[in-house]
Amino acid sequence: MKTNIVTTASGKANAYALFYVKKSIQFSNVLSEEAEKQVESVLNGMEDGPFEDLEFLEIDNQPTIFVNAAKERGLSSLDHLRMAAFRLAKKASKRQIPVVSIMLADAAPEQFKSILHGLHYADYKFDAYKSKQKDAFQVTFELVAGEHAAEFKKIADVVAIENKAIVLAKNLINTSSSDLTPAEFVENANTIAKYTPGLSIKVRNMKQLEKEGFMGHVTVGKGSSHEPYMITLSYDGSKSSKKAAKNARTSADHLVFVGKGLTFDTGGLCLKPPKSMPEMISDMSGAATVLAAIQAIATLELPIKVSAVCCLAENAIGNKSVLPGDIFTAKNGKTVMVDNTDAEGRLVLSDGLAEAGLIGATHIVDLATLTGAMVRALGYAVAGFFSNDDDLALKVINCGEACCEKFWSMPLEEEYADALKDHFADLKNTGSDAGAIAAALFLQEFVPENTAWTHWDIAGTAFVSKSWKYTDFGATGFGVQTLIELARRMSGVVCEEAANEDTDGEYVAVEA
Ligand code: BES
Ligand code: ZN
Ligand code: ZN
Repeated sequence: MKTNIVTTASGKANAYALFYVKKSIQFSNVLSEEAEKQVESVLNGMEDGPFEDLEFLEIDNQPTIFVNAAKERGLSSLDHLRMAAFRLAKKASKRQIPVVSIMLADAAPEQFKSILHGLHYADYKFDAYKSKQKDAFQVTFELVAGEHAAEFKKIADVVAIENKAIVLAKNLINTSSSDLTPAEFVENANTIAKYTPGLSIKVRNMKQLEKEGFMGHVTVGKGSSHEPYMITLSYDGSKSSKKAAKNARTSADHLVFVGKGLTFDTGGLCLKPPKSMPEMISDMSGAATVLAAIQAIATLELPIKVSAVCCLAENAIGNKSVLPGDIFTAKNGKTVMVDNTDAEGRLVLSDGLAEAGLIGATHIVDLATLTGAMVRALGYAVAGFFSNDDDLALKVINCGEACCEKFWSMPLEEEYADALKDHFADLKNTGSDAGAIAAALFLQEFVPENTAWTHWDIAGTAFVSKSWKYTDFGATGFGVQTLIELARRMSGVVCEEAANEDTDGEYVAVEA
């Protein structure tokens, strides 16, 4: 897929594309008066829903695809646009149309951004393991932006950077675990740090982790022949970036992402049933997401200090595996009894949270495919999140909404906190039947003092086993965009209030 952003249609297109909602057309102001009338008569002639995409009607003597931008249920109007653009791109490629003009002169920036994201999503495929790679037909999209062309070109550059990060996360998550061991993940992160200006990296191996008391990693990782690692990536945009210099409101915040990076989770000695095991290639989604997000944030040169901690281990069975009932001392001094070896994510995350404190986090976001309970509670479309800070929680919701990623606020219910207590140790790694809450309460025990924190349980949203929105099967890339947006808003590049107005207000032209 190629995109050209132009002011007026070049005349080279083999087809026009128009987005419509119910019976009204969107972004059409570059059409001739005659064409407007034709469009009106097509839409008026339609039955009452459900509305399908209409292909190759003649408008202005040009084959035109009418794309329904309100087809699916439950999506925001921005997400409808992503889906519409995604379907359009798939269709155009399948029908082998070389050039398609999309009329977008009336689009708001957010709408334009959504359409571009949708086009990019259609381009993704993961065929590294197929014996024969099939090349999809390459379509060029001419985005007719009218007087917004210059502004939209800048947006397209941003979307390209965001998309690159999404693709990176998805590729890492989809790669099988024997090919993406903790050491391989480190290799990838090293390469990214090397080629991303402003991004530095620190890697701790098993020996260093043990020496420094990061015993969560050691406890989980020691049963595997692939040693655990903890990576800390750092980017300081508060001082060095060009954008920081221009921006009067340079942020004093230090935003730290922490990602669960279980390159595979067998469950350990508390072995998982076979049916739920293959999906555990995605148990490093949190780590992949934070790596991808910080790469994009550094590339975008956002004026804020951001770090990303990847907690990497393989939860395997070996003669050194942690035994149920074993007790270890975590980095913050608390002792933990391993009640269930399958509740390993929270153990490595205890180290990640400690590291966030050591490097001076003011705000922590941890991402983890942490509990099956969260999958059962909210499914694949919504991530549950927890927070000890109302302001940060509101930001999560707002940033998610702007990025078409759904978040639902869950309680850090203190009534269930006692269930974490152990007879011998301070804590155990299981708790109340409310499994997602129990895990979050456990993590809270390791959050550094006076630090705003939010925990995102992405067990349901990171990886889908059937086609969902713009993902066929596999990694969704969930969270990458919301993390970038959070850094963007905290940095002051986007004013929070104005941004909310944009997504909720006038720019959303038509509600489905
Ligand atoms: N990685 C799993 C959680 C998971 C489940 C992720 C399904 C994606 C899809 C996690 O390590 C786990 O096994 N959690 C246990 C905890 C329990 C033993 C307390 C769970 O949720 O069953
Ligand atoms: Zn597990
Ligand atoms: Zn796990």
